[in-house]
Amino acid sequence: MYVKTVRKAIIPAAGLGTRFLPATKAMPKEMLPIVDKPTIQYIVEEAIESGIEDIIIVTGKGKRAIEDHFDHAFELEQALLKSNKHDLLEKVKEPSKVDIHYIRQKEPKGLGHAVWCARKFIGDEPFAVLLGDDIVQAETPCLKQLMNEFEQTRSSVIGVKQVADDETHRYGIIDPIDKKGRRYQVRQFVEKPAPGTAPSNLAIMGRYILTPEIFLFLEKQEAGTGGEIQLTDAIQKLNEIQRVFAYEFEGKRYDVGEKLGFIQTTIEFGLQNEEMREELLKFMEEIIRQYAKS
Ligand code: UTP
Repeated sequence: MYVKTVRKAIIPAAGLGTRFLPATKAMPKEMLPIVDKPTIQYIVEEAIESGIEDIIIVTGKGKRAIEDHFDHAFELEQALLKSNKHDLLEKVKEPSKVDIHYIRQKEPKGLGHAVWCARKFIGDEPFAVLLGDDIVQAETPCLKQLMNEFEQTRSSVIGVKQVADDETHRYGIIDPIDKKGRRYQVRQFVEKPAPGTAPSNLAIMGRYILTPEIFLFLEKQEAGTGGEIQLTDAIQKLNEIQRVFAYEFEGKRYDVGEKLGFIQTTIEFGLQNEEMREELLKFMEEIIRQYAKS
């Protein structure tokens, strides 16, 4: 049982981003923008809105781009100030409600290993993990929903959403025992089950609250699916000694970790932007006509 509240979050951003090559050859995929913001900024904003006080970003290559993005940009701010571009000035200011720290994952050995790299920063308290592959739009921020769950159960809780049958092999999937509201008790967490073998359609969506005991298992965790040290495998071991719940969060989830989802999200977020909605709709009607003919 934990009395402490969740104050710290890990954002792993050290993967190779192979699905976006060559764009990610010299730049982390978390810096790819949806309309005008890098995906990692959406994630940092969700953490801030959820009440997180300290964030540690696990970086690999392209570390500087991420650090510079969240840093004070003196020359840029002066230039915007001089030209009276106050609205843009607000957009480039570094987040003030949170401290952002960095740690390097020397080799991309997998998500589980990336989380393990931040163990000293976390210490002995429950913490959050947010992945940039999923952006969630919700009335109550997705992470906040999980933090509210943690307040009630004082147990680890993993964010899940339903996916189509033919997509389960791309995700960590839960084998639920029973359901109370949106909360599931879980028999097993399975990383990327082979097609047709998934125990359910409930997929892990890149939002986690974990107790620090997870590090005991990450320390010894061997490589699993894809030759990577998998966080899901360590969560399953944690589940064998403590309760680990899954929570089907509210809100719309956007898959920005692969190309098609990234483009779909860009279009939808573009349509949500009042300045460009009308022009974008006109353009879409035009190209739909054009491509329907060919
Ligand atoms: P992904 O598997 O989606 O990221 O990992 P990837 O490996 O960079 O992408 P692809 O599959 O090659 O296109 C989920 C998250 O975990 C981070 C990634 O940066 C991403 O945010 N990650 C993954 C690490 O930080 N370190 C790793 O060793 C692996």
